[in-house]
Amino acid sequence: MRPGAAVAFHDLAPKLESFRDAVLDGLSRTPKRIPCRFLYDERGSDLFEAICDTPEYYPTRTEMTILRKHARDMARLIGPDATLIEYGSGAGQKVKLLLRALDRPFAYAGIEVSREILLRATDDLSLDWPKLQVVAICADFLTPISLPASLRRGAGRRVAFFPGSSIGNFTPAEATRFLQQCRTMVGPGGGMLIGVDLKKDEGRLDAAYNDKAGVTAAFTLNLLDRINRELGADFAVGRFAHHAKYQPEVGRVAIHIRSLADQMVTVAGRRFNFAEGEGIHTEDSWKYAVGEFQDLARDAGYRPIACWTDAGELFSVHYLAA
Ligand code: AVJ
Repeated sequence: MRPGAAVAFHDLAPKLESFRDAVLDGLSRTPKRIPCRFLYDERGSDLFEAICDTPEYYPTRTEMTILRKHARDMARLIGPDATLIEYGSGAGQKVKLLLRALDRPFAYAGIEVSREILLRATDDLSLDWPKLQVVAICADFLTPISLPASLRRGAGRRVAFFPGSSIGNFTPAEATRFLQQCRTMVGPGGGMLIGVDLKKDEGRLDAAYNDKAGVTAAFTLNLLDRINRELGADFAVGRFAHHAKYQPEVGRVAIHIRSLADQMVTVAGRRFNFAEGEGIHTEDSWKYAVGEFQDLARDAGYRPIACWTDAGELFSVHYLAA
């Protein structure tokens, strides 16, 4: 698919070698691990969308409810003529709730590693908001982005929008660094609107990351299919399993691919041994109490201005001033 004429496209997508290098490097370590950004090839992104529709995975629909309910308050804090920069924009449904409430939004930039999804979403957005300047940036959001000049001309605030608790994939130290990087990007007077999953009881969290229909398992194990496909590997995917567990003492859900047997796998001509029960760490999903996240934001140089949660205290959305 090609971007619509109205959407400016910037391709900063990581190259294939970086996937190969990351996988070979990650499988050579003890314990084995592969960075979670590689979960999101086209199939992985589709599976993630499907996770959001499972009954157990509450974050997406809860955050949508919060955005719907408080969009006017958020829009008031953001102000008129704003430029929104969305990290990991995905299908781009959430920003629509915000755009509807904003006063004359000036520009929108979506940063997303999955190219197809990015182009579909930004095309769609520019059709719905013909006056909005729409920019699609294909990049993994760890790459520090310098904004295209056209995005710097807005009269209003620049606000980073980071929904979905994607911040949870970072360790707290990485999250602090990422927030600092965003603060530099939005500049003085700018802001950040960010969705953060809350700490809660273990059963609820374990269920959210182990849905009964097995969509989350398929999402995690798709990484092995991707490695087979793109790197000519021979993972017997049926001899591995998805494993996710909340660690309340640490405050994160740890996700692994577990080997169900002693086995050997060849990836790009190199051999890797797996012991039965051995894991490949694929993701952590950190959870924060409201006050904990506000402390982290202060460490990154922000002033916490507002925080909205749902009635069940499952999820939070923070507005931070840079
Ligand atoms: C996209 C990082 C927010 O941690 O909840 C969901 C990813 N992985 N189920 C999360 C995920 C398995 C998700 N984030």
